[in-house]
Amino acid sequence: MALVASVAQRTGAASRAVAGGVLASGMLAGLVLAGLVLASPPARADAALAAQKNCMGCHHAVQRRAGPSLQAIAQRYNAIADPKARAAAIDGLAAKVRSGGRGSWGVVPMPANPQVSEADARKIVAWMLEAHR
Ligand code: HEC
Repeated sequence: MALVASVAQRTGAASRAVAGGVLASGMLAGLVLAGLVLASPPARADAALAAQKNCMGCHHAVQRRAGPSLQAIAQRYNAIADPKARAAAIDGLAAKVRSGGRGSWGVVPMPANPQVSEADARKIVAWMLEAHR
């Protein structure tokens, strides 16, 4: 229901009277979207999330852009065999996605993405590793 909430938030600036109608149609659109996301396999939903959060502006599936390719990221972190160490690496990556960072792939820094929730960051990172082996 996060989608519905975010649609509702975006419409929230309108006056209450107008907001009622806008909210109703906004929620309807949100429900339709939520239905579509639920109907898709999880990997597709997370791909959509990565696109929606602008990750794909700098990360291509197989080519280096401003940031490393998803394949390169997946190869590096999927090489961690120990499940606990891998989970810790995913946590660290999710934190880095939100706060930004540099030095792991070269001199270009990744800017902070504070608009991405911790849960979404972890979801996208897990998808990056699973879907781009
Ligand atoms: C403006 C460009 C840009 C955007 C937008 C961007 N990244 Fe990055 N990303 C980079 C760069 C550059 C690096 C390499 C940083 C480094 O060398 O430590 C990177 C590195 C990463 C890494 C690997 C970090 C590591 O330490 O190995 C992950 C995972 C990642 N990005 C995920 C994301 C996700 C998820 C998003 C969307 C929320 C995102 N990025 C958005 C540029 C970007």
